[in-house]
Amino acid sequence: MTGSTKKSVVILGIETSCDETSAAVLVNGTDLRSHIISSQIVTHQKYGGVVPEIASREHSLHLYLVVQQALDEAKVNFSGLSAIAVTYGPGLVGSLLVGVSGAKAMAYAAGIPLIGINHLEGHIYANFLDHQDLEFPLLALLVSGGHTHLILFEAHGQYQVLGHTRDDAAGEALDKVARTLGLGYPGGPQIQRVAQEGDAFAFKFPRAMLEPDSLDFSFSGMKSAVLNTLNSARMQGDTLSVPDIAASFQQAVVDVLVRKTLIAIERTGVKTLLLAGGVAANSLLRETLENSLSEHNVHLVCPPPIYCTDNGAMIAVAGYYHYLAGDFAPWTLNAVPGLELV
Ligand code: KG4
Ligand code: ZN
Repeated sequence: MTGSTKKSVVILGIETSCDETSAAVLVNGTDLRSHIISSQIVTHQKYGGVVPEIASREHSLHLYLVVQQALDEAKVNFSGLSAIAVTYGPGLVGSLLVGVSGAKAMAYAAGIPLIGINHLEGHIYANFLDHQDLEFPLLALLVSGGHTHLILFEAHGQYQVLGHTRDDAAGEALDKVARTLGLGYPGGPQIQRVAQEGDAFAFKFPRAMLEPDSLDFSFSGMKSAVLNTLNSARMQGDTLSVPDIAASFQQAVVDVLVRKTLIAIERTGVKTLLLAGGVAANSLLRETLENSLSEHNVHLVCPPPIYCTDNGAMIAVAGYYHYLAGDFAPWTLNAVPGLELV
């Protein structure tokens, strides 16, 4: 048989779970035709964090413009889409609702399937944008503002959570320490920036490893240790070096993430680690993992930083694999703010 007429799979991915309104058009899983991100960071910065009410209102204002721009840039209209994939949880309920209702309306009107995507799954699938040939089983370290998970990724859509944070997520702890240091929101990138001028071993902050066999994390005590150090110094009238604190805390967080990941690798024998989530953009984490994993002959895959933080492209990639599996959502799809991965 000659001249294959296999139809392209064209997915519109929509992400509105927190403070980014984003849409992307993806063809056949890797060909990203457009990717629009409308960030609300500037709006929320003056409050020191995301204000849920404002976030959902901003999504309502921007969603259709962002989608239209994504379609225009990809030179496609609704009738040229195979399906619309949308984040339906976890996240802020008002923000999720804007994306889910919008996607439902658009898919219904266009007569195409709707696909519901778990935001955490989206983060992991960002890795498939440049690597379609990843061999299962895979291990994923998902580090974001709301989650810190070590996940055994056994096959498309099959996850086993090996460990997760018992309190603060890694990004949340970085954000809180940054706020106390007066570095602004979001804190992770600010900590990374300021840490470049600091000594990572100036302060010996604790590394919470929990029980010897545990793959869980706990960043709350580590964060409190920093806050206590700052408070004690203030009470004594001392001024501590912000770059040294930032560098030492960043080092402590990275040390724990890397050590736990190595334990998970040893336990599972997995040969490829996928890094995912906003904190995956951190250069110290990427470099330290790269060096440690190469000593164990484990391959590190991580998305470019723009696909680590929240974005519509990762939702489109996850949507592509759901599409191939025929896994479509009913028209009753609702936002699920506390959605789990498994
Ligand atoms: O995945 P994401 O965009 O949103 C959630 O799903 O939570 O992650 C946001 C988190 C924030 O805590 C932010 O401070 C952190 O990712 N982050 C970073 C960096 N870029 C973003 N943390 C450390 N270093 C970075 N370069
Ligand atoms: Zn996220």
